[in-house]
Parts: sequence; structure tokens; C-alpha cells
Amino acid sequence: MNWKSDILKDLSWSETIINKEGKQKVADKIAEKVKDGDIIGVGSGSTVYLALFSISKKIEREKLKIKAIPTSFEISMTCIRLGIPLTNMIESKPDWLFDGADEVDPNKNLIKGRGGALFKEKLLMNSSFINYIIVDDSKLVNNLGTNFPVPIEVFPESLLYVEKELNELGLKSLNLRFAKGKDGPLITENGNFILDAKFNEINNDLERQIKSVTGVIESGLFINYNVEIIVASNNL
Ligand code: A5P
Repeated sequence: MNWKSDILKDLSWSETIINKEGKQKVADKIAEKVKDGDIIGVGSGSTVYLALFSISKKIEREKLKIKAIPTSFEISMTCIRLGIPLTNMIESKPDWLFDGADEVDPNKNLIKGRGGALFKEKLLMNSSFINYIIVDDSKLVNNLGTNFPVPIEVFPESLLYVEKELNELGLKSLNLRFAKGKDGPLITENGNFILDAKFNEINNDLERQIKSVTGVIESGLFINYNVEIIVASNNL
């Protein structure tokens, strides 16, 4: 039996989608990769959201059977709304994954986590052999940290301990992310806080150093991951 729900039917992206045209191009590009029988890890963010619409059209057109492993409630509810069957990391391993990013440097290193889903995004990326990162060209930077801080998900009670330890890593600024639509700090889907950190320098060891602090669940730094970047530029 199915719920009779207006909430899911009326679900749309919560904010205006910035650079929608470029994002739509890469969204369509990723839909071309979907094959019958695929188990697909699905990241988070507006580019991924648009890609799900392109994928659902392809599923309908070609009568494909696929399953998605979502990384956030937002994406999970969008899949349900579009009739894309869901599975999880206990039941299945992703054949491949697609996700967005906030920044991409020339060595394919990433900052992710603007949407707060960084923990599951990293878990899925580590579990999947093929990872496509879909971005519009506003995300390309020479150095990570140019436009975005590094999000760090922390166990709430460890907040001040983590602050003390991060200070040892050359912090420029550290902010507790606040919620919109709720008073106080943003609470992640895992019940944690997010700190947005700017560092004097982001080197190849920083991801490991941040993760080694007790109380840090995960950071949005993705250094040396196995990713293929698909960029929407004028010729895509
Ligand atoms: C979600 O937590 C992030 O890692 C997103 O992948 C990233 O913010 C990209 O978002 P947009 O596609 O909305 O730019």
C-alpha cells in the first residue's frame, strides 16, 4: 500500500539553483551512463538533484531497472518521488557513483559538504570503484579553499576539544554552521554539528590530520580520490 502524500509530490529544490544551465548539461551527461541493472551511489546537491530527473526520464524511456544508494534525505526523497528504487550500503555495493562538488583543483582534489552530507558522500565514494564528479565550471579553482571553507562534521560534545586541536593545524577561521529554519546549530543527518574551517594552507596531509582528531566524524576534503571530473563548459 502506498501513502497518499502531497509532501513528496510538491517537493522541489529548497533554494534557487545557481548556474542551472551548466548543471543541467552535466546532469544530462550522467544520465547517459545509466545502464540496466546498475546500483548507483547518488551524492547530494542541486546538480545531483537535476541529474535524478534526467535519469528518471531515461529509466522510463528505456524501461531500465536500477537501484540508487542515496547520501541524504533530500536525495532519498527525490528518488522516492521519481519512482527510483532505493537500496543501502548494507544490502548493496555501488557499481558506480555520481556526486557534485563545491571546489575542484587541477589535481582533481575536492572540497565537498556545502549540503552537510559529506560523511555519507565519502563513505560511498570510498566504496565505489568508479566515481563521476559533475560540476559547472564555476567550481574549478587553482587552490582548494578559494571560495569555500572546509566543512568538518563533529560529534557535538567534542566541539571545543576539536576547536583546540584544529587550531594546531593553522586555522584562519572557524565557524559553527547555523541552521536555516531552526534556531541554533545545524544538525546533520547523523545528529552532529558542522564546523566550517578556513586554513592558512591546504596540503595533501590535511585531510588525514583533521580526521585524526577525536570527535571529528569526517571532513569535506577529498584529496587523491579516484574520481573522473565531468565539467559543463561551452563545448559540453
Ligand atoms: C553536498 O554535501 C555537497 O558535497 C555537494 O555535492 C556540493 O555542495 C555541490 O552542490 P551543488 O551541486 O548544489 O553545487
